[in-house]
Amino acid sequence: YTIPHKTSLPEGIRSGTVLRIRGVIPDKAGRFHVNFLCSEEEGADAALHFNPRLDTSEVVFNSKQQGSWGREERGQGIPFQRGQPFEVLVIVTDEGFKTVVGDSHYHHFRYRLPPASVRLVEVGGDVQLESVKIF
Ligand code: GAL
Repeated sequence: YTIPHKTSLPEGIRSGTVLRIRGVIPDKAGRFHVNFLCSEEEGADAALHFNPRLDTSEVVFNSKQQGSWGREERGQGIPFQRGQPFEVLVIVTDEGFKTVVGDSHYHHFRYRLPPASVRLVEVGGDVQLESVKIF
């Protein structure tokens, strides 16, 4: 898969939708992101910005509205390692986005924007993508 990778969601997402991403973190990776965006336009609002940062050993979650980032949330620890494969599930629940990394629940990010407004998932940054699937 080439980066950035975009998956259109013409029917949006709803409780029960699952996004599965598989890939490998490059040896010299800095950061990558998975964005749930409300349109295909440049500067679109983000219902979720999921941002593993290998350079600072943290995973930041945020939203973006009218060009401004909201309040950052962080998961505990960093379940990603340079040079290692990974699998992330983003599960759309009634209350928010539940993330699972490998075999473990990681962080639940409560909705700030309605999930019904999401139209696109974009994966970018320092990541080797093996697959992106919506279930
Ligand atoms: C900023 C960073 C953005 C985004 C944002 C999330 O510092 O430049 O790329 O990750 O944090 O809050």
